[in-house]
Amino acid sequence: EPSPAAAPERRSFSRVTPEDLAFFRKVLPGRTITDPDLLESSNVDWLRSVRGSSEVLLRPQTTEEVSQILSYCNSRNLAINTQGGNTGLVSGSVPVYDEIILSTALMNNVLSFDSISGILTCQAGCVLENLSLYLEDRDYIMPLDLGSKGSCHIGGNVATNAGGLRLLRYGSLHGTVLGVEVVLADGRVLDCLTTLRKDNTGYDLKHLFIGSEGTLGVITAVSVLCPRKPKSVNVVFLGCETFEQLLQTFQLCRGMLGEILSAFEFLDSECMRLLNTHLKISNPISDCPFYVVIETSGSDATHDGEKLHNFLEEAMTSSFIADGTVATEDSKIKALWSLRERVTEALTHEGYTYKYDVSLPVDRIYQMVTDMREHLGDRAKSVVGYGHVGDGNLHLNITSPAKDAALLAAIEPFVYEWTAGCQGSISAEHGLGLKKRNYIYYSKPSQAVALMGNIKAMLDPKGILNPYKTLPDNLQ
Ligand code: FAD
Ligand code: MLT
Ligand code: ZN
Repeated sequence: EPSPAAAPERRSFSRVTPEDLAFFRKVLPGRTITDPDLLESSNVDWLRSVRGSSEVLLRPQTTEEVSQILSYCNSRNLAINTQGGNTGLVSGSVPVYDEIILSTALMNNVLSFDSISGILTCQAGCVLENLSLYLEDRDYIMPLDLGSKGSCHIGGNVATNAGGLRLLRYGSLHGTVLGVEVVLADGRVLDCLTTLRKDNTGYDLKHLFIGSEGTLGVITAVSVLCPRKPKSVNVVFLGCETFEQLLQTFQLCRGMLGEILSAFEFLDSECMRLLNTHLKISNPISDCPFYVVIETSGSDATHDGEKLHNFLEEAMTSSFIADGTVATEDSKIKALWSLRERVTEALTHEGYTYKYDVSLPVDRIYQMVTDMREHLGDRAKSVVGYGHVGDGNLHLNITSPAKDAALLAAIEPFVYEWTAGCQGSISAEHGLGLKKRNYIYYSKPSQAVALMGNIKAMLDPKGILNPYKTLPDNLQ
């Protein structure tokens, strides 16, 4: 019995021939890569958990080139795996078999920026951090921020509907993405690249592509509504004795910080241990079972400072927090953020990591970690919890020295049943990719999944776009 996460058999797509390569080289001279050494890093995912065997990497620069490639591949029945920064965590960004890799790395131009409305329009391959730097020079910021910002592409962010560290304040990409340009499976260009905040003319098709993980089309450009750069930013790193106190801290800060609250993140003491051990990052406060990172972003340093001071005083008087430190200057802000952002990297030094990314009622978040620890006993190397507690999003990670089928069988479906038991989502922000596609039914009714299948069949009848991903095997 293969595990439901295992790849299904290779579908009957064509294999790349010398004639196909000649066509690609004509359209993309010098940008059709077949050197196995150069292909290696595009065949392996960030977590190094899966490896494809693609022999062709295409690096288009324009929408027109993407259109020509897709039109050709569709007529030849060649499968395509679109790839951005390859930082995805559900094995959706690398081929399963020999799918052609279509990289957006060279589609990295800003197309326009309106400094009055704050609307940025750019190609899909712009690296998130480069866009942030571009905007900061113009007194704006991106509405999203992720630990992978140095590598991930905005097209990949939109394709995964990435959440991240600022969602609490600026909302999801379904709200901040105003337009997308998409090349459909047959090469048609769908130009929905509007820059309007309001547009109720029929169905809002862009939403289909936000979070579609490369299965419905190739996103070639996006327009994004960007917030003004806050004039004052503060970050506090606090310790709590219990998760209950952490939640009380959250409640209190929502009330007292109000509109200046821009992030509320947490990590547990196991995460801190991994940061210490593997990355030599030390704890800036005394040891506690739980830590929170709170960020404020506002327009008046005195006003924000006062609010933060009052909140901290109240949190201490009420004994919600045991210890803490505050940062207002850039280097210390970065240092405090890295305690939260680098947990993912610290985990990779443990061996193999089983990653879960679930939405739960906020008061149930840590119970899942505790239950999993008890359930696994000493079968796991470590069981850690961290995440976007302000958004009800837990990252539960379980490590072992190497891949371990028995451990996996103990984790799944336990983790999914637990999540479904409280009407949660088995993927809050990372998507389904290859790894979680068959578990979709834990979070979506079968009618919804069937309709997704209909949409896929309509937009990509031959199924050439990112096959084996997102939708469950029994649909296709
Ligand atoms: P890739 O990994 O290359 O691709 C991801 C998926 O999108 C694939 O299915 C791919 O086929 C598809 N795709 C990519 N580009 C396009 C395109 N132009 N058109 C159509 N489909 C496309 N995620 C979060 O949500 N929140 C976080 O806080 C977060 N933090 C992270 C921290 C670290 C250290 C790491 C390694 C990852 C993190 N992630 C997070 C996961 C990942 O970074 C995001 O999912 C990111 O949005 C992926 O972007 P990418 O360009 O790397 O896409
Ligand atoms: C995060 O919030 O750190 C990311 O989603 C990555 C992860 O889950 O490890
Ligand atoms: Zn996350």
